Amino acid sequence: MRKGTGNPNAASRATTECGVTQELTPDATGLARAADLLRQGQLVAFPTETVYGLGGDARSDTAVARIFEAKDRPRFNPLIVHVPDTAAARRIALFDDLAERVAAAFWPGPLTLVLPLRPDAGLSPLVTAGLDSVALRVPAHPVARALLTAFGGPVAAPSANPSGRVSPTRARHVIDGLSGRIAAVVDGGACAVGVESTILGLVGGAALLRPGGIPAEALEDCLGHPLATGGSAERPNAPGQLASHYAPASAVRLNALARQQGEFWLGFGPDATDADLNLSPSADMVEAAANLFHYLRQADTAASGRPIAVSPIPEHGLGRAINDRLRRAAAPRP
Ligand code: TXA
Ligand code: MG
Repeated sequence: MRKGTGNPNAASRATTECGVTQELTPDATGLARAADLLRQGQLVAFPTETVYGLGGDARSDTAVARIFEAKDRPRFNPLIVHVPDTAAARRIALFDDLAERVAAAFWPGPLTLVLPLRPDAGLSPLVTAGLDSVALRVPAHPVARALLTAFGGPVAAPSANPSGRVSPTRARHVIDGLSGRIAAVVDGGACAVGVESTILGLVGGAALLRPGGIPAEALEDCLGHPLATGGSAERPNAPGQLASHYAPASAVRLNALARQQGEFWLGFGPDATDADLNLSPSADMVEAAANLFHYLRQADTAASGRPIAVSPIPEHGLGRAINDRLRRAAAPRP
């Protein structure tokens, strides 16, 4: 790895044909640069004690859309939001006594809590995939904590690997998978835990949603009872559960090249000049993904019962995630 080259930004560069990914050192200069990039809506991979996370500003639709694009995720799974301490977590989610007890016992550390989302949390709806709950984590890794403090806001971060590949536990792994697709990676050496955080659901009863860095037994000791089994972290992604969040009241017609009489037209690209709303006039997939949930809601309000026609979206990159959501929106209603 090319580090410590005397570059004033404490960065060396891995260049690809698509772009440049800076490799930042985990000192004050590198962390200030990383925080700046996050403020600009760019993506920065950083070490946690579990795996390297691919961080973006959790309040920015564009930054979160970029996470899905960089990972080439076919779907908008809900992401874990990283914060520096429990006080910051309380500004995003509602904590009851049980949540307070578990947080006091295991944070900072490799535990993620799924809690009711505060209405005033200010997160991009892409982070929670439109759910009323949010997954929160206070990592213990000193570099992650320093970055979160320097940035001063919530950071959405899935593992920093292309979708379907193994999670990264070294900065080199991140470069191997995502070089040229993200702005920077902070090199904090190897991750101590190496598997993702345990996810504990605390909405409507405690449930283990994903085994991980904290053993279930330790959680059960803290809770004072065995954990419900059979929960699945993938559950919120089940079509039936998500469909209700995205299905507009109006019928949805996909692959519409023009408006038919009476329709509201949600366009995409430069040809849809006549559209009522355009997800991205320049056919930019990041912009379209960032606008998607907002525009579907706006279209539904404006259409007031008329059918909504949606332009075709190319089935590659972020387009696959956009089309996945649009197909759910257009699916026959129960
Ligand atoms: O160790 C980790 O947790 C790593 C490091 C980077 O912190 N992060 C990580 O994040 O694994 P991510 O975004 O890949 O984990 C997302 C998973 C989702 O697939 C889902 O299973 C669960 O977290 N999740 C997120 N929000 C949820 C919610 N509201 N309800 C239930 N599960 C949720
Ligand atoms: Mg992952």
